Amino acid sequence: MSDFVQHATHGDVHVLRLNNPPVNTLRTEIRAGLLAGMNAAKAGGAKAVVLIGSGRMFCAGAEMTEFGKPRVPPSLPEVFDAIEGFPGIVVAAIHGSALGGGLELALACHARVAVADAQVGLPEVKRGFVPGAGGTQRLPRMIGPEAAAKIIVSGDPIKASEAHRLGFVDAIIEGDLEAGAVAWARANIGRSFTLARDRTDRIAGQDAAAYDAVVAGLLKRTRGQESPKGCAEAVRASFTVPFEDGLKKERELFSTLVAGEQSKALRHIFFGEREVLRIPGMPADAKSLPVERLVVIGGGTMGGGIAMSAANFGVPVTIVEMSEEALAKGLARCHANWERTVASGRLSQAEYEKRKALLTGSTDFEGTVAKADLVIEAVFENMEVKKQVFARLDKAARPGVVLASNTSTLSIDEIASATSRPELVVGMHFFSPANVMRLLENVRGAKSSWPAIATATEFGKRIGKLPVLVGNCDGFVGNRMTGKRTPQVEKLLLEGCLPPDIDKVMEAYGMAMGPLATGDLAGLDIGAAVRKARGTVAPVADAIVAQGRFGQKTGKGWYMYDESRRRLVDPEVERIILDVAEKMQVRRRKISDEEILERLLLPMVNEGARILEEGVAYRPIDIDVIFINGFGWPAFRGGPMFWADTQGLKNVRDKLARYAEATGDANLKPAALIEKLAAEGGTFASMGAAAKAA
Ligand code: NAI
Repeated sequence: MSDFVQHATHGDVHVLRLNNPPVNTLRTEIRAGLLAGMNAAKAGGAKAVVLIGSGRMFCAGAEMTEFGKPRVPPSLPEVFDAIEGFPGIVVAAIHGSALGGGLELALACHARVAVADAQVGLPEVKRGFVPGAGGTQRLPRMIGPEAAAKIIVSGDPIKASEAHRLGFVDAIIEGDLEAGAVAWARANIGRSFTLARDRTDRIAGQDAAAYDAVVAGLLKRTRGQESPKGCAEAVRASFTVPFEDGLKKERELFSTLVAGEQSKALRHIFFGEREVLRIPGMPADAKSLPVERLVVIGGGTMGGGIAMSAANFGVPVTIVEMSEEALAKGLARCHANWERTVASGRLSQAEYEKRKALLTGSTDFEGTVAKADLVIEAVFENMEVKKQVFARLDKAARPGVVLASNTSTLSIDEIASATSRPELVVGMHFFSPANVMRLLENVRGAKSSWPAIATATEFGKRIGKLPVLVGNCDGFVGNRMTGKRTPQVEKLLLEGCLPPDIDKVMEAYGMAMGPLATGDLAGLDIGAAVRKARGTVAPVADAIVAQGRFGQKTGKGWYMYDESRRRLVDPEVERIILDVAEKMQVRRRKISDEEILERLLLPMVNEGARILEEGVAYRPIDIDVIFINGFGWPAFRGGPMFWADTQGLKNVRDKLARYAEATGDANLKPAALIEKLAAEGGTFASMGAAAKAA
């Protein structure tokens, strides 16, 4: 037998151990090993078989790299047939996680036992398809279709203790899992278990209308995404057609969805989020410096959020502010934020107390910084202020301590020049709200050393962020690209659109919020101040701001807002826009949704290409991951560079050239990289693959 499944015997209880650590995906060798193991156990007269995983978990599910390739037998259903046809009992023993195909394997067993804090779930929906090995048919038979739909449509895992309560984990094992599972199996030999496939008690009499109502609620938040609908449809089959037909339905949905663009996009991001952590050129021995205590300079919007992130992950953190008053305000904001989470039931009082104790504050700059292992600066966005702060930090911090800036636009090199340790200065650009957003753009200065970069990367991961390393330039990657969209928003408003026309198109595409609603949330005065500083104008946006319409904070911006902050169309905005258009003698016309979408996405793609040419982003996937995790871009669209590939780069090039001419926006002139790839028939993906091979 292969090493992929190890077979041990304990009298008449046999143990089959999935041995492809750390996550034991169900690759061909594992499936074959399980089938052979079941046959050998049967031939050996076993009365019970325990399936268990080695390494971190029971099993993370299917091997996604095998998708799209010719299928090699045995299939999972063949393995399940051997389990379900076994003359004794088969017990899955779960630790770590049982996810996707891993949970489906467990569901095909006669019984399941688990460690209390193990996680079980069917996350297939998040990869754009439905569980493909009976999960949508077996789970409803065990816990009822509505409870199953909640798990399968959301894709979120639950604790084994919760699964035990729901009824699909038979026992929680304390102490050593293997010994406990073997003892449990031995004690249950001879007991008659009804296989999930044969159960009818939880699906009989299911009210279809009640099911549809529950599902409609679940699907509200998944606008535009196909796989949640597919999951709901598959689970519905569990109580409307016999088991075998339900499996067939599930298989059809799986095959259609897995071949679709959305699933490709979601898998692109799934692998991409792992890929971005592999930093090209980083020496294997580049060690992160140990961080016991974080010091954050500035307790405003960002400083507070950064400090909360650290405390949320158990890191002691001190905020340094300029005055007692500002400090008290900053700390109070953090506390209030946590208190809201406690009130909503998502945070226990005990955990809140723990976090609160980890977060301290001080106005003693030098004294506090002297104790820091890492400093993250989040003071006002002003170069002179930042340089003063860094000069002070350099003197106060111990030698060897990394000094990071959360600047969103300023040059890390210039900030570093204020210190005697530019090699230890990096950018750590968090996104607002910093305690929520997962993206962290770490910025590499010209002199940043590998240990400094490794420290920013490791620390980011430790506090729950997804760090993506980028180069130093104005706006870095994300803000630089969205900045190129803004002039087109302005032009679209002048030429014929109203704010809802634009936001509607972007929200239908799947964005959490359209660009104008986002502007209202962030504050329109910020953009106006940037334009003023740069000496640029945006006639429509300037006219809106001139009316004191700064967005949600003033109750009015591109929209007007009621007390519950509901977004409402304001006829006044239309009047302002028409006024400006008339003054500028622009003939307004009806603009199609397709044109709106292209004029907003193409400038970003074009700038993304320039960012790649300059090496500011290492790979197209880095850009896509940034947009999914920091800019409300829907993961099922795969990000801007993935989108460009789906359009065909030749097409992208031609459209850019056309829009550049029609709108006079020089930014839309196709980037050299797009010209090159379009001419070669290449894609951004092929470019990424070539970089990986190099
Ligand atoms: P903020 O105005 O809310 O907070 C800045 C805080 O720093 C204030 O509380 C101020 O009292 C304090 N401060 C100023 N000088 C100080 C000093 N010498 N010592 C100690 N404390 C000092 O500003 P916000 O929005 O938090 O921005 C901070 C930085 O984060 C800026 O560089 C900004 O560009 C960047 N950023 C902001 C984002 C946002 O959405 N607001 C997103 C990403 C980065």
